Amino acid sequence: MPTLTIDGKTVTVPEGATVLQACEQAGSPVPFYCYHPGLSIAGNCRICLVEVEQSPKLPIACYTPAAEGMVVHTTSDKVLKARQDVLEFLLINHPLDCPVCDQAGECWLQDYYMNYGLYNPKFDEEKVKKPKAVPIGPTVMLDAERCILCSRCVRFCDEITKTGELGIFNRGDHSEIGVAPGKELTNDYSGCTVDICPVGALTDRDFRFKCRVWYLGSTKSVCPGCSMGCNIEIHDNRERKERPHVAQGARVMRLKPRYNADVNQWWMCDAGRYGYKAIDEQRLTTVQHRNGHGHQTSTWSDALDLLASTLRRLQEARQMDRAGVILSTQLTNEDLYVAKRVAQALGIRNVAVQGPARPGRQDDFLMKADTSPNTRGAQALGLSLDAAGLFARAARGELTTLYVCGPDVIEAYGQAAADQVKNCVELFVYQGSNAGGSVQAAHLVLPAAVYAEKDGTFTNDQGRVQRIRPAFAPLGEAKPDWQIWTELAARLEVPVSFTDAAAVFADLAAREPAFKGLTYEIIGDAGALLKA
Ligand code: SF4
Ligand code: FES
Repeated sequence: MPTLTIDGKTVTVPEGATVLQACEQAGSPVPFYCYHPGLSIAGNCRICLVEVEQSPKLPIACYTPAAEGMVVHTTSDKVLKARQDVLEFLLINHPLDCPVCDQAGECWLQDYYMNYGLYNPKFDEEKVKKPKAVPIGPTVMLDAERCILCSRCVRFCDEITKTGELGIFNRGDHSEIGVAPGKELTNDYSGCTVDICPVGALTDRDFRFKCRVWYLGSTKSVCPGCSMGCNIEIHDNRERKERPHVAQGARVMRLKPRYNADVNQWWMCDAGRYGYKAIDEQRLTTVQHRNGHGHQTSTWSDALDLLASTLRRLQEARQMDRAGVILSTQLTNEDLYVAKRVAQALGIRNVAVQGPARPGRQDDFLMKADTSPNTRGAQALGLSLDAAGLFARAARGELTTLYVCGPDVIEAYGQAAADQVKNCVELFVYQGSNAGGSVQAAHLVLPAAVYAEKDGTFTNDQGRVQRIRPAFAPLGEAKPDWQIWTELAARLEVPVSFTDAAAVFADLAAREPAFKGLTYEIIGDAGALLKA
């Protein structure tokens, strides 16, 4: 463990650490472009030059091993001048088109120029022209003039996805990034190249020009796209909600991966990244009640009164075995737990959880075949996963009330089966966020919040309990599932009452052995494992 002196501070770093990492640890951060902690070291951008006493030249901090007794300066006159010169070189052929560049506001050229540049440019020759706004795959746009040839994107495709689509072509100041002949940037993680490009060379075709980044709000959450539970940030346009084209209030603008050493590190797959669009597809925003003329808008009060009176009648007739509840592995632990407790208190034994209708793609990196975020949580809560059996019983006419929360049963079992259920049961309730086929079959439709609108936890396939948080309020009349269940419980005088998701989780952790000892504080931003 070498001990160094950095800007007068003594720091001891792990064996194998670089000077750049040592500087970080010492609180003297050094700028970098080509260095990325998840990739091999290229050492080509030269912005990380530092002064090391006894060294004849300024070494690059990202490639220089930290050694015992080193004395490093990160802000000496020599270093500051070298940084300024490197920036001037990097910007010689740059088009300086910041006003029309979608990276503006999160561009490391802009940031470093303001922090370490501020030189008077001496270059007045013609700049080299390169291709602009070239789609190099379904998700990524390349502007070769803005590229600083740091090779992060090339190394990502070589080392992480091992698909090798990108390369640096030509020589000297004509060098440019491009896709290999006949190829497109189509790997399942292509959006990550945009995340790691430090400048405006690679931009996201989905996000480009949708919202200036300084208007984005950011919320820590977890991708609901599969059981991996990649950590993400939800970026929404909350600061612009007064604008007419965002009449619905703040919505998701993009998802970005959030570092978690034990789950997804710095990455996320494209399916998860662009999966946010499903949030607002055919969104259910009102309570609906079917009468002879189709669905009519109703109220929460009327709908829950109807559901409660139906359940009360079954209770009084001692026929609770004719009521069934199908929950979903898309629901949070909090949603599942409250539904389970209310169902138990009412004496409903027919409770099962529906998984995804069909498996997704699986690879040996992040993508999992289980396309739901909380299968492990449902198991840990002791819930049955045999929803198919329960649905079949409803279709055989063995149930009179079916309350489906989350899964689109049409997708899982088909239209004919759902129609059969509708005709067999007296009350078919569908509670969900988006209108699938179940909505047409249901007598009552209750709008539920999506993951981006609620507080709670998912348990990923490692058994890691992870927090989701609301980026904005539920759309229209939608409510979190756990809250709908507590409002139903109040009508049935069932003593299951919570004011927020945190209170639900505290009760859950006290009563469910697998979650024992966990709190939102312990889960924090990185998650915490279930008890074995
Ligand atoms: Fe680096 Fe971006 Fe250029 Fe790729 S496109 S080499 S990540 S600057
Ligand atoms: Fe060190 Fe690029 S970050 S050379």
